[in-house]
This record gives sequence, C-alpha cells and structure tokens, in this order.
Amino acid sequence: MARIDELAQIGAIENTDGCARLALTDEDKAGRDLVVTWMRDLGMEITIDGIGNVTAVWAGPDTDTSLDPVMTGSHIDTVRTGGRYDGNLGVLAGLEVVETIAEAGLSTRRPLAVGFFSDEEGSRFPPDMLGSLVYVGGMSLEEGLDTVGIDGAVLGEELERIGYRGGAPCPAAAPHAFVELHIEQGPVLEAEGVTIGAVESVQGISWTEITVKGQSNHAGTTPMNLRRDPGYVAARIATYVRELALELGGRQVATVGQIKLHPNLVNVVAANATLTVDLRNTDEMTLQQAEKQLARFCDELAESEQVTITSRSLARFEPVVFDPRVVDRVACTAEALGHSVKRMPSGAGHDAQMLARVCPTAMIFTPSWMGLSHNPFEFTEPGDIAAGTNVLLHVLRGLADEES
Ligand code: GLV
Ligand code: MN
Ligand code: MN
Repeated sequence: MARIDELAQIGAIENTDGCARLALTDEDKAGRDLVVTWMRDLGMEITIDGIGNVTAVWAGPDTDTSLDPVMTGSHIDTVRTGGRYDGNLGVLAGLEVVETIAEAGLSTRRPLAVGFFSDEEGSRFPPDMLGSLVYVGGMSLEEGLDTVGIDGAVLGEELERIGYRGGAPCPAAAPHAFVELHIEQGPVLEAEGVTIGAVESVQGISWTEITVKGQSNHAGTTPMNLRRDPGYVAARIATYVRELALELGGRQVATVGQIKLHPNLVNVVAANATLTVDLRNTDEMTLQQAEKQLARFCDELAESEQVTITSRSLARFEPVVFDPRVVDRVACTAEALGHSVKRMPSGAGHDAQMLARVCPTAMIFTPSWMGLSHNPFEFTEPGDIAAGTNVLLHVLRGLADEES
C-alpha cells in the first residue's frame, strides 16, 4: 500500500486520489524510475527492451536460473484521468510477492519475473497493450516505434527522450507462465460480494476513428436543408452506437469517448468532426456484426447528409480465452485461502491477453468500488488488495515449482 501511495504521487490529480501518467510522458518516466529503483532494491536483474518494456528477474538461493521464469506484471501508464490501481497494482503486487518470498528466506525452482509493459492504455499511442503486443511478436518493433500519438508525438522518439529505449530483444523469450493481478474495473465482484475473480477470458476490442468532412458555414444564414454538418453527423453516430449495443444485447458495449469538432465555435457549422468508437464483445461474431452495421450506417449517413465519412482502425483484438489449468489454479488457490471466487470474463483489455499468445496465462481480479475505473476516484479496499496479492503469491509459487 505504501508503494501504491508513493507511485500515485507522481502525476497526482489535484483533490483526488488519481493520477495522470500518459505513456512516455515526463510523468511516466518519473513513475518508471521509481519502480525500477524498487526493483533494484529487491536485488532483481533488470532488462529493458526496444519498446521500453521493463522486466525484473528474481532468483532465490535454490533457483535454477536456466529455467524459464514465471512472470507477473502489468502496466504503470495511466489514462489522463486515471486511478492509482489500474495496472499499478499488478506491478507492485509482483514486487510484494518477491519481497515476501525473499524475506521469508524461501526460494522458487524457477526464477520469478515482474514486468511493466509500455503504453498499455493506448490512450496516447493506440492501440492499447502496444508494449505487450510487441513483447509477444504481435506487432513489429519498427511499427511500434513509428506509432504516432494523439498529440502528434512519435512513440520511438518519446521513448528515446525519456531514456527507456532498451537493448533487450523483441519479441522476448516466452516465460513458463504469466499471471496478472488487476482490479476488476467493473461492478460485478462488488455487487455479488465476491472477493476474487478468476478471469477466464477477455472480450474482443474494436477501436475506430471516424472522420466526417462537410461544409463549414454561417450558423445563422445557412438553411437547415442546405447544411452538410459534421457536428450533427457525429452526434447521429454517437446515438447510433448506443442503440446498436442495446439492439445486439448480451455483452455488447459501445462507447464514443472522444468527439472533436473543427473549428469548434458557437456560430460556425463545423468543417469536420473526428470521433472514436470503442466496441467490445466476448463474442467475436457479434463484434464483427456490430462493426458491419456501424460501417453501413456511416455509408448511408454520408449519402443522406452529403458529407464524406472515412474511418481508420486504431485497435482490433479478438476475444482471448485463458489457459483453463491456470484459471483453475487461481480459483482453487483463492478457495483454499478462504476467499469467495467467481469465474468471469474481463471487460477491459490487459497485457495478459497478449502474453496468452505465447504461454499459459490467467488473471486475478479484485473488486472495484462502485465499479469505477479510468476515473481518479477508482478505489479498492486494502483488504481486497491483500487478498488478491496473497492469491498471486501462492499461484506464482505453485507455477514456479512446476517441473515442466
Ligand atoms: C485498456 O485499459 C482498455 O481496456 O481500454
Ligand atoms: Mn489496466
Ligand atoms: Mn486502463
């Protein structure tokens, strides 16, 4: 809890418990420096790869360092209006596990690795989970470094600037297994009074940036029937995606989180609008259907409103199913420690979904107060954090003592 508190002071958002450490900003650098210091203090061996992912490896007196490590970790970048737990918990809980095992004079057969991955949030440099995607070879290092941010910055240049462009290779060698502890970021565990989520899957994610171009004109003189108005069209798209999610039902969710109008003035019909659509579903076929219906709606709207609408994919990841053996281990460990457990999907994206491409992987969830996340008022009870971290400890130890 002390480490969570200290890290949250960096980029702290006034009058809240939250923080703003967008990927590869000065605040992200300061957060990285602090966590790396803690890793060093624990005697861990630190490597930084070409996309800025940091991995710290710990070996006890009886550890066979020729074996693949068991890995945990998450991210320490945040959205601009972030909480102090999203991502940070998974990294700092990993350090707590290492410290606990070391202080108890114990060892593990396999080394333990704790990592934090670059740009998990993707809100500055889309897609989300970019660092872990490069880590597992799902995106080339070059493509990752060339990514242009919402502020026009180039990822590789920012990485160089903050001193986190390392020499370790991407893709990295796959660990023996990967387990990530994370807050749920949703309301389910709290509502059901359950302490631990054993995460079985992550829903698919589709991010699209839509640009609408129309005719900028005088707001007072232009008759309604002669307008080609991107502001109106953006609003229609925003309302449509909500109706679409409700119509498709099930786990379909849809969000317009950003709308930018230009020139954004009270008495000017906008010249253009840029908006983002975030569609997610645990079911890939329904997600594809949502994408198709949105595309058709935009085509029809462009025609009827006499505007041009273009779109660009910012992120697209299919749903991921975690390794049932590791999920069982999480659930059984939590039960053995006396906690209530729920097997559940994840609504948010996570680095673990990328690691699942290369090694047996699962996640542990702890409850989120009022289901709030990507919000400075995000909160998880210290008792729940302790419970989740203890589950992580025992799951990692079990995996680290596996022969093969
Ligand atoms: C990442 O946090 C995401 O789910 O958007
Ligand atoms: Mn996160
Ligand atoms: Mn997040």
